[in-house]
Amino acid sequence: MGLHQLPVPSLGAFDDILRLAPATRPTAMPEKPQIADFMALKGQRKIVCLTAYSAPMAHALDPHCDMLLVGDSVAMVIYGMDTTQNADLDMMIRHGEAVMRRRKSSLVVIDLPAGSYENSPAQALASASEIMAKTGADAVKLEGGTNLAPHVKCLVDSGIPVLGHIGLLPQHAVAGAAFRITGRSDEEANQLHKDANAVVEAGVFGIVLEGIIEPVAASIAIGCKVPTIGIGASASCDGQILVTDDLLGLYDAFTPKFVRKFANLQDDIGAAAADYRAAVIDGSFPTQDHLFWPKKT
Ligand code: KIV
Repeated sequence: MGLHQLPVPSLGAFDDILRLAPATRPTAMPEKPQIADFMALKGQRKIVCLTAYSAPMAHALDPHCDMLLVGDSVAMVIYGMDTTQNADLDMMIRHGEAVMRRRKSSLVVIDLPAGSYENSPAQALASASEIMAKTGADAVKLEGGTNLAPHVKCLVDSGIPVLGHIGLLPQHAVAGAAFRITGRSDEEANQLHKDANAVVEAGVFGIVLEGIIEPVAASIAIGCKVPTIGIGASASCDGQILVTDDLLGLYDAFTPKFVRKFANLQDDIGAAAADYRAAVIDGSFPTQDHLFWPKKT
């Protein structure tokens, strides 16, 4: 059986989950997470999502998250590239495999990189099938609204769960230019509502709302039947996502307004390297305990 024929819960099954009274839904993700477990968190408690690109980061984040996104932000954050548009299928697969090796109970979603899906639903299906087959991830994410609804429907009908992403779409941003927040005009606000409705109708199990002004993001989030995950969008979203390297203070190229740094690891790493340098130069490292000695006979 090809991967695109694997059975997944139908949208009807998702509807059943969302009809459960929030108080009766589980609050934690189980060891082998399913899309339905993630969806059931809607209305129960806020959903916690972060990006992860490596095995040790997945291990550290997994107990604290409901979803780990292997985002195409990996191109900028790990490879130092100018835009997410430089990510490709091999890069996403390699990092997806690494994250899957250490995840336990978080849903793992992998971004379809720019250029791998937009041309046609068939192209999207080929790329998504390859990612799913090679990594064993739970779902893929793609950026776009009404224009990408046929692509979403094709994946979902083929058994591949899809997370939507509307609003500010980094794959369309101009390299070097500031990211543009959306929803400021009536026309943009209407289009965002249409985008959300189109991808929900096409079968997404959740939507990332990125860089959308608060009232518009809030009205989309409040009216949406699937979980909404905000990034620079509304606190009314069902959950939030950040790029992990931003919240750790590891990514220093720029810090968007929507980021809160919960640590400053650039400084911590610098301080550790300075301590190491001093210890090597003054001879206090390595000590005898760090060295190997002949076995005692
Ligand atoms: O690639 C990424 O990290 C993302 C998040 C910012 C949502 O798409």
